[in-house]
Amino acid sequence: MSRIIAIDGPAAAGKGTLAKRLAAHFGLPHLDTGLLYRATGRRLLDEGADPSDPEAASAAARALRPEDLARPDLRVPAADAAAAQVAAIPAVRAALLDFQRDFARAHGAVLDGRDIGTIVFPDADAKLFVTASAEARGERRWRELRARGIAAELADVIALIRTRDAQDAARAAAPLLQAPDALRLDTTDLDADATFARALDLLAGRIGPA
Ligand code: CDP
Repeated sequence: MSRIIAIDGPAAAGKGTLAKRLAAHFGLPHLDTGLLYRATGRRLLDEGADPSDPEAASAAARALRPEDLARPDLRVPAADAAAAQVAAIPAVRAALLDFQRDFARAHGAVLDGRDIGTIVFPDADAKLFVTASAEARGERRWRELRARGIAAELADVIALIRTRDAQDAARAAAPLLQAPDALRLDTTDLDADATFARALDLLAGRIGPA
């Protein structure tokens, strides 16, 4: 039986780190679905096309190849903005659904994103909704930026996180929502190790041992 673990939540809540560790623990492949939206936006920027143009964006989503997800320039501010634009287009989301479902078909998977437990895998074996206060998430993102040599004001990064939260929650196509059967994990006061330990407790009995 292939196993699917869905991890959703807002920006910088710790989904990616947790998803990687859970995937290694349970011996499952991991897909960071945000990369699909980032790579789609990146293709459009390369072509000089408009990331908010539904026709161009859905063509770029359909043309996506696994190697596009390994590009080194997916986490720069221009790609953040383009990803948010393409993610609001229903035809893009539809084009990326098959990619996500095919990825998990053979061996199961841990997938992290915004709509995994609500839309992509509503029947997932286990769903976690990982969140934290905007201040804690802003500080984490600020530290990540600093580690990459990108200077920014903490207050500005927190303000951007709040704007992204509002965009993710308000968009008509697949808004960020906690699935009714998702287990909530608030990481405001937890580091990566404590988050992992708490997630294993929550998943106990839902996902068989690795
Ligand atoms: O962590 P951060 O929000 O900066 O980035 P991400 O998780 O890589 O997501 C990039 C963009 O894709 C965001 O605008 C998300 O709202 C969007 N996204 C989405 O719409 N659906 C997903 N399953 C994953 C990401």
